[in-house]
Amino acid sequence: MNIIVTENYETLSEEAAKRIAEVIKNKPNAVLGLATGSTPVGMYKKLVEYNRENQIDFSQVTTFNLDEYIGIPSEHSQSYRYFMDHHLFNHINIDYKRTHVPNGMAKDIKVECEAYDERIRSHGGIDIQVLGIGNNGHIGFNEPDSSLIVGTHVTELTEDTIQANSRFFNTISEVPTKAITMGIGDIMKAKEVILLASGNSKADIISKLLEDKIDTHIPASLLQAHPNVTIIVDQQAGKHL
Ligand code: PGA
Repeated sequence: MNIIVTENYETLSEEAAKRIAEVIKNKPNAVLGLATGSTPVGMYKKLVEYNRENQIDFSQVTTFNLDEYIGIPSEHSQSYRYFMDHHLFNHINIDYKRTHVPNGMAKDIKVECEAYDERIRSHGGIDIQVLGIGNNGHIGFNEPDSSLIVGTHVTELTEDTIQANSRFFNTISEVPTKAITMGIGDIMKAKEVILLASGNSKADIISKLLEDKIDTHIPASLLQAHPNVTIIVDQQAGKHL
């Protein structure tokens, strides 16, 4: 795995956005795998800037998001569809029809999961997958467990994750307890992965993920088996490296 330690959050965001820009320059119809959470917000801001300055053209780009809560509609301010529209899609020249976020309100969630994987396949797979990391080592909503699932599936969020995400809701009881997430196999099939982590609270999990063993209780550790991963951390998240 390649590791880049940047001076601060601003330079981390720039580093990640530059890599995405390069991928799109080399392949204008690139397929991006995107993540939500606080960490990639700065990267999205940069991508919007680059698009405004005509440094990136999103007109032929397709995107697939990692995950979505089950049970809150896309117009809800905490849905991941809303997040993506607000931070990226509404501000760039992307064809909105090419942006994909799992539908957490689908009548038949199993069919939705299968169709999502099929859609990724039919676009030729993901060229670059952006990941954050949970304090518990989750990627997407692939939570620590004794086994992990390959394809897009329904997942029960752990107490840690519900607690961490409650900062965005009025009360913890409003936080959805289930989500749709791409599986570990979907992530491992991406041609390239960049994982971003910022701040002191991520320092322990970043050093664990890099320990020389794969453990399904730290889902991000599976990335050790991927041939093209770059971990981009700021000095705080990388302080044990
Ligand atoms: P964060 O979330 O970027 O808000 O820290 C990361 C994650 O839970 O995957």
